[in-house]
Amino acid sequence: MAVVQDSAATKRKDFIALTDYTKDEILDILSLADDLKRFQKTGRPHRYLDGKTLTLLFEKPSLRTRLTFETGIFQLGGYSIFVETRLGKRETVPDVARNLERWVDGVVARTFSHDHILELAANASVPVINALTDYLHPCQILADVQALREHKGKDLSSIKVAFVGDGNNVFNSWVNFAGKVPLNLSLVCPEGYEADAKLVKTAQGMAKGEITITHDVEAGLRDADAVYTDVWASMGQEDEEAIREKAFAPYQVNAQLMSLAKPDAIFMHCLPAHRGSEVTDEVIDGPQSIVFDEAENRLHAQKAVLVKLIGSAEARA
Ligand code: CP
Ligand code: NVA
Repeated sequence: MAVVQDSAATKRKDFIALTDYTKDEILDILSLADDLKRFQKTGRPHRYLDGKTLTLLFEKPSLRTRLTFETGIFQLGGYSIFVETRLGKRETVPDVARNLERWVDGVVARTFSHDHILELAANASVPVINALTDYLHPCQILADVQALREHKGKDLSSIKVAFVGDGNNVFNSWVNFAGKVPLNLSLVCPEGYEADAKLVKTAQGMAKGEITITHDVEAGLRDADAVYTDVWASMGQEDEEAIREKAFAPYQVNAQLMSLAKPDAIFMHCLPAHRGSEVTDEVIDGPQSIVFDEAENRLHAQKAVLVKLIGSAEARA
């Protein structure tokens, strides 16, 4: 079996948002991620990016995203260059893009402004991959879904994910996913912290499953197969920490809150976790937690994205 199958759908240049992809394309990436994970674990070579170079432009800190992209390109036979930067300060974003496209085969960017990654993609002829913006974190959701499928089976149409906490970049990407692939998604949050309304409405119009927002913990957690949370204050919102701690306190994922979900519900978190705030040690270290499976899959899911976007025609054959 050829590992890198040609998708029936169009090959995209960039990976900025899951909404840019069809359901089949998303499932195709997930399937390749499963193949690459199996190949990595059985020691089979898969140097589909031999000689390719990737640059990572990061405006925010990272452990998982940086390390998994760097390890991933290395395992695929390529090379990476990490640059910590603030885009738009020393020169314009389009000028950065026009330089990079002359040297490297792909750009992975973590930016504050979502507009900056769109500007990079619009001005670079090489693929641009979203490693998190204030608005979206699509790579995270691919890895999360890969882990969710490993624990709950590949058909997610009757699965309910309860996202407890801030309607932030991670949740927005979950909404984008649920708009494409059948799944039930519920945001359980304090008033004033709902997700981007337009994005939710668009996804609700396309979704086969339910996408709901509630402030009621019991209703939101009822029949949940997975309970997901993220930090209450994202990177860049540090000055709101105190006010958010207060607003989100009733939404802490602890043993009592977990008991409102199905007895076999799994616990998920994109990490880094603020233990004692959005989640207790008991839950994140407990038997229901799959947080390190999600973290592991960042490697495999992003390798699949790299192969799809940057892999040569020969590698794809
Ligand atoms: N989950 C995630 O993106 O982690 P990092 O911020 O460490 O990359
Ligand atoms: N919402 C978090 C995710 C971190 C991976 C943030 O943006 O800081």
